[in-house]
Parts: sequence; structure tokens; C-alpha cells
Amino acid sequence: MFYDPRINDHGLPHDPFKSCVAPRPIGWISSVAQDGTVNLAPYSFFNAVADNPPMVMFVASGNDIYGLKHTLSNIESTGDFVCNIGTWALRHQLNKTSTPVSADINEMDYAKLNAIPSKNVSSPRIKESPIHLECEYDQTLDLPFNGEGRNSVCFGRVVGIHISEEILSDGLIDMEKFRPIARLGYHQYTVVEKVFEMIRPTIEDV
Ligand SMILES: Cc1cc2nc3c(=O)[nH]c(=O)nc-3n(C[C@H](O)[C@H](O)[C@H](O)COP(=O)(O)O)c2cc1C
Repeated sequence: MFYDPRINDHGLPHDPFKSCVAPRPIGWISSVAQDGTVNLAPYSFFNAVADNPPMVMFVASGNDIYGLKHTLSNIESTGDFVCNIGTWALRHQLNKTSTPVSADINEMDYAKLNAIPSKNVSSPRIKESPIHLECEYDQTLDLPFNGEGRNSVCFGRVVGIHISEEILSDGLIDMEKFRPIARLGYHQYTVVEKVFEMIRPTIEDV
């Protein structure tokens, strides 16, 4: 089949685009409002985009019922955030924090998670999450948007990385202990349960 996303003539019961690029990792982003309220929400248009220096990005699309997504407005006004990584064990709390609650609700409390201080940024991190990337806000790139509000790619420079000892085996992050979840299309998710290795060829192999 072929379809043109500008007119969305796919003829399928649901738009398949987000299932074409799958899985998408989930950045579970904690930030603080100017009045100090802690905010937490999952973003699956999220990824690491460079490693020297390490940089991440997520995309805040559109408005919820309270206007611009709080994560973006917080980061643009306070200048930092933390990407916590959601896992199988935390999947229900992660989903709960996608509820469009008002800006005065502390979403760590709302999801019964514990906030702990970061080392290099003011936004707190989630104690229960095994990996935290502390990020300084770098820049926002505003994309075109077919809807209300902004479609903003927010970039952050990673300035602190916490890895729980509990997910390390022989000095490597052990995916079977970490068990990160990722988003597929529709209402589908996946969890990392199978790992394989491939060694990259060198010019001597040609
Ligand atoms: C797994 C998951 C991934 C999501 N990814 C995105 C995303 O990439 N961009 C976006 O704008 N909203 C995304 N959402 C919706 C936001 O989490 C939701 O709008 C949330 O209320 C935003 O909270 P905030 O206003 O506190 O930032 C996602 C929701 C879920 C459950």
C-alpha cells in the first residue's frame, strides 16, 4: 500500500505512521515551574541525538486543555529538566503522569513517586527510575503544526547521568535488569526482553 500523509488517504482504521517508526523510547521528563511545582510527563518523540557532548531531544506537540504543555513552558522558563527512563515495573505510574492535570498539581505526588534532588540541575529526578539524565536546556526548534499550539523540538545537553547499581552486570547496563519500555503505534508498547550483538565490520573485512 501507499498513502500520502498530507491527505492521510491510508484507508486504514487508524493512522499507521507511528507504527512505522517503532519502537520509540520514552523520556519521562521531570521539570519545575517557576513557582516550584514539580511536573512529570512521558514523551515518546524522544531520543538521544548525539554523544559528544551527549544531547537529547523531545517534542511537545499541541496544547492540552490548559494550553501549552507544561513540560515545555517550564523548561523554557527555568532552563533545565531530567529525563528519567520508564521501565516495565513503572509502566502504570508512567501512564498516569500523561493525564492532563493543571499546572499546580505536583505530578510526582500524583503518581505516588518519590522526587529526589539532582546534582547539576534544579529539576528533581524520580527515585524509582534506574536511569536519570540531568539536562540543561539548549534550544527549541519550532516545526510546522497542523493544529492548535506549538510543535516544538526541545534539545537538552546532558550534564549529569545517574545509573542504578542494580541494573549493572560486569560493568555494563544489563537490559534484562533495566527492562526499559518503548512506545509502538496505537495503544501498544514494548519492553526490552531480547538482546543480540553484532560486531561492526572494519575496512579489513572488505
Ligand atoms: C507513552 C506516552 C508518550 C507520549 N509522548 C508524547 C510526545 O512525544 N509529545 C507530546 O506532546 N505528548 C506526548 N504524550 C502526551 C503527554 O504525556 C501529555 O500531553 C501530558 O499531559 C503532558 O504533560 P505536561 O503538560 O505536564 O507536559 C505522551 C503520552 C504517553 C502516555
